Amino acid sequence: MNENQSNRRSFLKASLTLSAATLVAPSATIASVPLNEDEFKIAVGPYLQTNFNNAMTILWLTNKTAAGWVEYGEQADLLNQKAYGKAELGLMKANSKLNAVTLKNLKPGTKYYYKIVSKEIKDFQPYKLTYGVTVSSAVEEFVNADVTKEEVSFLMLNDTHDRPESIPQLLGLVPDKKQDFVFFNGDIFDYQTDEKQIIEHMLQPCVDNFAKHTPFIYVRGNHETRGKFAREFPQYYMHVGHAAFTLGPVRFVILDTGEDKEDAHPVYAGIVDFDDYRIQQAEWLRTEINSKEFKKAPFRVVLMHIPPRFSGDAHGPKHCTELFEPLLNQGKVDLVLSGHTHKYMVHQPDKALNHYPLIIGGGPKTGTRTITKIKADRNKLVASMLDDSGKEVGAYTALRK
Ligand SMILES: [Fe+2]
Repeated sequence: MNENQSNRRSFLKASLTLSAATLVAPSATIASVPLNEDEFKIAVGPYLQTNFNNAMTILWLTNKTAAGWVEYGEQADLLNQKAYGKAELGLMKANSKLNAVTLKNLKPGTKYYYKIVSKEIKDFQPYKLTYGVTVSSAVEEFVNADVTKEEVSFLMLNDTHDRPESIPQLLGLVPDKKQDFVFFNGDIFDYQTDEKQIIEHMLQPCVDNFAKHTPFIYVRGNHETRGKFAREFPQYYMHVGHAAFTLGPVRFVILDTGEDKEDAHPVYAGIVDFDDYRIQQAEWLRTEINSKEFKKAPFRVVLMHIPPRFSGDAHGPKHCTELFEPLLNQGKVDLVLSGHTHKYMVHQPDKALNHYPLIIGGGPKTGTRTITKIKADRNKLVASMLDDSGKEVGAYTALRK
């Protein structure tokens, strides 16, 4: 509870006592004054996530269990379509504080208006469900990207390590707000403690700055695998593991590099298995680099928290080099974007080792933080890394082979 809420509560308590004693105000009025922390409300959101392909996932959290949906349309004053959370085994997603609704079959290059709506579930009896109040957001908008577009641009943030202020500070260094997405390349947290941390250190700054209208995509770093809430953490996102998608001239491949120490290390207490997970992803990556989508794309960009080389001799980094680098070379990857080392760096391609260029973003302390801008058309991909004063500290241009 913040100070304002605390003051308001004290004031309300005082008012209630006074009113009851003096019978000045009618009791109905007193009863209808809600205590702030008891009000049903949207805790955070909406925030957008997508792998493109004419679908957009809208997520939000309420402070109490509810049923929710999204109303949307192509005109701000005519939200004539409605979508619900995915039904599983006949049950729609409900009785939860977490909401994720995917809008499908969207028109390419079209602007959509939407609002989120949640109806509190006051009492859930087997044969009688009682709803409370309904709340909704303001009408927001996003553009559904045309996957055949000529140009793609995005921003990468990494290793902010529980410093929520870094998100607006770094985003503020890029004047061009028209990005296709923002990519979080891991270690946005030190370890996972609870929902409050996820909201305050990532979701709220994202919502406040861009995520109502520009989607973000996220892959775990080694720090997101730690802590008592690490197993609940993925449900707050569309995905935090490996994935691949095409947008414009770029095929994007995301790898989840797991932990940096060996699975048997005492700090993991015998309850992790990242070796096997990385091996599975290498098999998946082999299939991906042989896919039509990967081969025919003008550019291939790989995003992974632990770099495939140049991040020391710990088990995780070495395992990444061993498993992933031969495939990145074989697949003629045009650019790899990573974090993890906390020292920003651009590694040029090397004929013997990494055939691909590698950009490593810095962080998390002031003076070491970076934001990386990437723009590609069908002929050229340009990456520019800025430090937190806005100075370019790394750049790479790839021409179509
Ligand atoms: Fe880190």
